[in-house]
Amino acid sequence: MNSRPKKIVCIGAGYVGGPTMAVIAARCPDVQVMVLDLNAERIAAWNSDNLPVFEPGLREIVRQVRGRNLHFHPQAQGVSALAEADVVFISVQTPTKTTGEGAGKASDLQYVEACALLIAEHARGHTIVVEKSTMPVRAAERIQQILSTTQAGSTFAVLSNPEFLAEGTAIRDLEHPDRVLIGGEDPAAVAALKSIYASWVSPEKILTTGLWSAELSKLAANAFLAQRVSSINSLSALCEKTGAEVSEVAKVVGADSRIGPKFLQASVGFGGSCFQKDLLSLIYLCEHYALPEVAAYWQGVVDINEWQKRRFAEAVQQASVNRRVAVLGLAFKKDTNDFRESASLSVCRRLLQSGLEVIAYDPRVDGQRFAAELASPSHFSIATTAAQALAGAGAVAVLTEWDEFRSIPWATAKLSPGAVICDGRNIVDRLAVQQAGYGLRVIGSAVP
Ligand SMILES: NC(=O)c1ccc[n+]([C@@H]2O[C@H](COP(=O)([O-])OP(=O)(O)OC[C@H]3O[C@@H](n4cnc5c(N)ncnc54)[C@H](O)[C@@H]3O)[C@@H](O)[C@H]2O)c1
Repeated sequence: MNSRPKKIVCIGAGYVGGPTMAVIAARCPDVQVMVLDLNAERIAAWNSDNLPVFEPGLREIVRQVRGRNLHFHPQAQGVSALAEADVVFISVQTPTKTTGEGAGKASDLQYVEACALLIAEHARGHTIVVEKSTMPVRAAERIQQILSTTQAGSTFAVLSNPEFLAEGTAIRDLEHPDRVLIGGEDPAAVAALKSIYASWVSPEKILTTGLWSAELSKLAANAFLAQRVSSINSLSALCEKTGAEVSEVAKVVGADSRIGPKFLQASVGFGGSCFQKDLLSLIYLCEHYALPEVAAYWQGVVDINEWQKRRFAEAVQQASVNRRVAVLGLAFKKDTNDFRESASLSVCRRLLQSGLEVIAYDPRVDGQRFAAELASPSHFSIATTAAQALAGAGAVAVLTEWDEFRSIPWATAKLSPGAVICDGRNIVDRLAVQQAGYGLRVIGSAVP
C-alpha cells in the first residue's frame, strides 16, 4: 500500500465522527472519506441542510466537501466500502455500562466490538483500524482479538488516535489542534495515519506513543480537566461562606503560569458525554488493577461535581417565591446542541421531583428530546424565547453560559415580584438584576 491512505471509512456519524471526517475531507482533497452509521435518520440529517450536530463553522465545511470527497451512508448500504478502505476509524459511543460486570463505572465496549466484527467480516487486504472512540487502556487487545477471527485472510494494524476536540469549538480544535496523538506499535501504520494529519497539522504537534499510553492519555487528559473544574467548584462553596469571590480567587490562581487560567470558572458543574464517563472508566481501571487509593482520588472529582449540582438545585428550590422555575440553558455548554449529562438535566430532574414546575429555554437544544430524558416531564415545558420562560417565574436557574443570557433585559422581564435569579455560570449582569429589584444568588459569591 502507498503510505498515504486514499480511502477512509469512519463508523459512527456522531459529534466526533461527523466533524472530524468533514475536516479530514476538507484538508485532504485527494482522500475519499465515507461515514457510516446504523442510525439512518442521523445519516439523512448529515445529507440535509439540517445537520444533526450544531458546531460553529461545521455547516460551511460540510457544504464544501459533501458529495466531493465526503459521503454519508446508512451502514447497510455503505458497508461494502470497508473492503477497499485503507483506514477505518471507529468513532462510536463508549458509554458507561449499565448492566453486568463493572456496571455504573466501566465503559461499555459493545458498540466498538460490533464495529470490529463488521470490519473483520468485510475488510479485504491490509487495513489500518483506528480507535477514535475513547477507550479504556488495553482495549485495543480486544479489537485485535476480534479482528483475528476474520475468515478472509485480511491483515490489520490497530492504532489509537483519541480525539481531543471540545464540543462548541470542535472545528477550531480540529483545524488547529494543541496536539494529535497516534499510539501504535506498527511504524508503517503510524506513518500512514500521520501523513493524513500532516496535511494541515505541523509535525511537532503530532505526538506518537505506544498503544497503551495513547489510550490512557485520553482518559488522563479528561480527568485533569474535570479535576480543575471540581477544584474551583469545591472552593466556590467556601467563598460563599466567607465572602471571598471565586472569580477573583480563580483569576489570581490562574495568573500563575504554572497553573494557567483555563477551566477555572466556577459553575453548577461539568456535564457532557465525556468527563464523567471517562473519570468513571479510569476509576474502574484503578479498581481492576487493585489501586484503591488512586481510584478514591479520582472518585472525589466525580463526587464534588454531583454535590455541586445537588446544592445548586436545592438553592433554586429554596429561593423560589412560587412553584414556577425558569431554566435558561439545557445544553451542557454554550455553542452546542448536546445535552448529554448536562447540569440542566440533573437540576431539572431534581426540581421536578420536588414538585416544582419548570419552563425551559435553550437556543439550540431540541426541547422534546430533552423532555424525553426526564422521568416526570408532565410539569416540564419549553419556551421559544427567554422572555417567555421568565414570565411569572418565582426563580430563574441559569445553567448554560449562552452569550444571550449575559444581556437579559431584567428590567423588562416579567418575573414574579421578589423572584430570585440563581446564576450557575457567573454570567448574569448583577447590576441590572439589582436595579430591576430581583434577588440574586451566584455560585462562589456571597454577593449581593
Ligand atoms: N463528544 C465529544 O465531545 C467527544 C470528544 C472526544 C472524544 N469523544 C469520544 O468519541 C466517541 C464518540 O462520541 P460521540 O459524541 O461522537 O458519540 P455519538 O453518540 O454522538 O455518536 C456515535 C454514533 O455511532 C453510531 N453507532 C453506534 N454503534 C454503531 C455501529 N455498530 N455501527 C455504526 N454506527 C454505530 C451511533 O448511531 C451514533 O450516531 C466516544 O467514545 C466519546 O467518548 C467524544
